[in-house]
Amino acid sequence: MKESVALLERVTTEESAASTMKALVYHGPGVRAWEDKPRPTVGSPTDAVVRITTSTICGTDLHILKGDVPTVTDGRILGHEGVGIVEEVGAAVASVRKGDKVLISCITSCGKCDFCRKGMYSHCRNGGWILGHTIDGTQAEYVRVPHAETSLYPLPTGADEEAMVMLSDILPTGFECGVLNGQVKPGDSVAIVGAGPIGLAALMTAQFYSPAEIVMIDLDDNRLEVARTFGATKLISSADGKAVEKVLDLTGGAGVDVAIEAVGIPATFDICQSILAPGGHLANVGVHGKPVQLRLEKLWAHNVTITTRLVDTAATPMLLKMVTSGRLEPKKLVTHRFKLGEVMKAYDTFGKAAKERALKVILQST
Ligand SMILES: NC(=O)c1ccc[n+]([C@@H]2O[C@H](COP(=O)([O-])OP(=O)(O)OC[C@H]3O[C@@H](n4cnc5c(N)ncnc54)[C@H](O)[C@@H]3O)[C@@H](O)[C@H]2O)c1
Ligand SMILES: [Zn+2]
Ligand SMILES: [Zn+2]
Repeated sequence: MKESVALLERVTTEESAASTMKALVYHGPGVRAWEDKPRPTVGSPTDAVVRITTSTICGTDLHILKGDVPTVTDGRILGHEGVGIVEEVGAAVASVRKGDKVLISCITSCGKCDFCRKGMYSHCRNGGWILGHTIDGTQAEYVRVPHAETSLYPLPTGADEEAMVMLSDILPTGFECGVLNGQVKPGDSVAIVGAGPIGLAALMTAQFYSPAEIVMIDLDDNRLEVARTFGATKLISSADGKAVEKVLDLTGGAGVDVAIEAVGIPATFDICQSILAPGGHLANVGVHGKPVQLRLEKLWAHNVTITTRLVDTAATPMLLKMVTSGRLEPKKLVTHRFKLGEVMKAYDTFGKAAKERALKVILQST
C-alpha cells in the first residue's frame, strides 16, 4: 500500500513537471519574472508546439517592458524570435514534423486571408505580430505557434542557430522595411540613421544592390565602428546635432537617394527628411511613439517617396538562403550569450546596451 502511494506521488510529480515549464513573464511596466507556466499544447489542428533551443531579446521587448505597448497584458510570455525543435503538431500540419529543427517567424500568418494573399503577412487577419504580444512568446522552454505551416521554416541540417535566429525578425525587418521599401539601386547613396541591430541588418542587406555609398549615422561610436566592419563607407556621429550638415557636405549639397530611419524618434525622422535628394526615398523602419513634423513645405516639390511598413517576413526564404550560403553573416551581431535560465540577467545586460556594448544577446537552452 505504502509503495503504491509512493509510486502515485512520483507519477504525479513527473506529470506536473511535464505539464509546466519556465518562461519570462511580463507583469506590467518594469516588472518581469522567470517563472513556472503551463507547458503549451496543440489547441488547434494548425498549431505546432516547439521546444526552444535558441532565442534572443529584441528592442521591442524593452519597449513592452517600459509599458509602451499596452496591447501586451499582465501574464504574457515575451519573445518573438526563436529556433527550436518541433515537439508536437496538429492534425492539419504536414510541412513540419516532430523532431524537425525550425525557425520561428516573428510574424504568424494564416496564408489564406486577403492580406496574406497579397504577401502582407504582418496584417494577417488571423495572425500578424502576435507572438510575445497578444499570445505567449518564445522566451520560454516551449511555445505554441499557430498556423505552423506558414509561420515556421524548416532549417537545413547543421544550420548555425545563432545566425538563423537573426532571421526571425531583424534581417527581414531591415531588408523589407528599409532596403526594399527604400528601393536601393546600384550606384545609390544610402544613409541609415540608427546602427542598432535593425539598422545594421539594413546595412548588410542593402549591399545586395551595390549602392555606391552607405553612410551610417548614430550617437554611439562603438556601434558606428561595428557598422564599418559590416560595410558602411562613411560614419557620422550625430552626437553634436550636425548630422544633416555633415551628410549634405559629403554629398556636395545634393543629399542621398535613400534615407532609412531605424531609430523611431522625431529627431531621426527629421534627419532623414532633411537629407533626401530630389527623387529620394525615405524608408521608415522605426516604431514611433510620438508624432513627427512632416516638412511638406519643402518636400512637396522634391518628388520624394516616404514609406512605412510592419515587417512581413515575405523575404525570409530568400534571406535564409543568403545566410546558409554564407553571403550574409548575421552571427557577427552576437555580442553576449546566456543560458535561457539566465534571461533575467540577459535583460539587464541588453537594457544597458550602450554601456555593455550589446547588440544581439543569445539565449540558449541548457
Ligand atoms: N517596422 C517594423 O516592422 C519593425 C520591426 C522591428 C523593430 N522595429 C523598430 O526599429 C527600430 C530600431 O530597432 P533596433 O533594435 O535596432 O533599436 P536600437 O535601440 O538597438 O537601435 C537604435 C539606435 O539608434 C541610435 N540613436 C538614438 N538616437 C539617435 C539620434 N538622435 N541620432 C542617431 N542615432 C540615434 C541609438 O544609439 C541606437 O544605436 C526600433 O524603433 C524598433 O522598434 C521596427
Ligand atoms: Zn523584434
Ligand atoms: Zn492571413
